[in-house]
Amino acid sequence: MTTHTATQTEPAKAGPAFDGRALRDAFGSFATGVTIVTTTGPGGVDIGLTANSFSSVSLDPPMVLWSLARTSLNMDAFRNSGHFAVHILSADQEALSGRFASKGIDRFEGLALDRGPDGIPMLKECMARFACKLAYQYEGGDHVIFVGEIVDFSHSARKPLVFHGGRYGMLLPKQPVTSVDEFSNLTPDDLLYQVSNAYFQTRQTVIEKLESRQWTAEEYAVLSIIGREDGLCVPEIVARSEKVRGQGISSAIVQQLIERGLLHEVDSSDRPVAIRLTPEGRLAVLELIAIRKSSEADVQGNLDPSEVQLLKHLLARLAA
Ligand SMILES: Cc1cc2nc3c(=O)[nH]c(=O)nc-3n(C[C@H](O)[C@H](O)[C@H](O)COP(=O)(O)O)c2cc1C
Repeated sequence: MTTHTATQTEPAKAGPAFDGRALRDAFGSFATGVTIVTTTGPGGVDIGLTANSFSSVSLDPPMVLWSLARTSLNMDAFRNSGHFAVHILSADQEALSGRFASKGIDRFEGLALDRGPDGIPMLKECMARFACKLAYQYEGGDHVIFVGEIVDFSHSARKPLVFHGGRYGMLLPKQPVTSVDEFSNLTPDDLLYQVSNAYFQTRQTVIEKLESRQWTAEEYAVLSIIGREDGLCVPEIVARSEKVRGQGISSAIVQQLIERGLLHEVDSSDRPVAIRLTPEGRLAVLELIAIRKSSEADVQGNLDPSEVQLLKHLLARLAA
């Protein structure tokens, strides 16, 4: 850990001087949620900005606070308005956060709004929102701290957008170790156990769905390889299935699909015999794509979209 010692410099009232970058980084090590704070400005204009300085303050009376940089173009509006609203963003609202931190655009364009006290704009889509009556304002150095008394609030069960170290993130709840695998010496704490177990379970979902429609995993492998690249020869199909898809197949499967009229052989003098889809084979590939898509929905199960995104990201990094 690097230690930063304050040095007293003039002007005397300015307080101890730190390396600004280091102080910003130290503040940024505190993970926060992300909010959009809104109010109404002169002439009833809608105003709002992204803020992560939000904090709950008191349950009784119910109070929250946030702080606004003195450089904000909207300082006067927030100081003079009797109400403000705080919206806590969910993991899929990163773009909205970016929008409300950008200058020179209409931040509210196209957004569905409710109206709160004094007509303040309230975003419809968010994880939680608080309509507040401005109770106190405090000087806070280069920021002004606004404390509001909550007059109305709502919330929904979503995953929060997180901000840490100057970057957006998502929350990954820690999982307690609950059980031990009874058939091996791997435990749920082992990454290998989790990855192979997840692979087995998710693959099983697809295989059951295929079998219910009279397809086998081997046929699925062959047709999806050819569906992607028509005109491969049999050894190429077998190699791709094993190497890329982890599905061992025998060349007899290709022959069976030819006999069923789904594939046909194209002879050319200078190349090995190429295997192509027949029109019936193309229809079969479409059916298999539909099965894969519906399995994808099953496999995602109870995960919410932000967890699915995170899982895909982590698995891709693991495989890289
Ligand atoms: C994640 C995030 C958190 C922010 N938190 C604050 C904050 O708490 N207070 C603040 O004044 N600005 C904060 N900002 C910066 C403002 O959103 C940004 O400067 C905005 O353009 C200010 O708009 P205004 O000048 O129209 O008020 C934050 C920006 C981001 C991206």
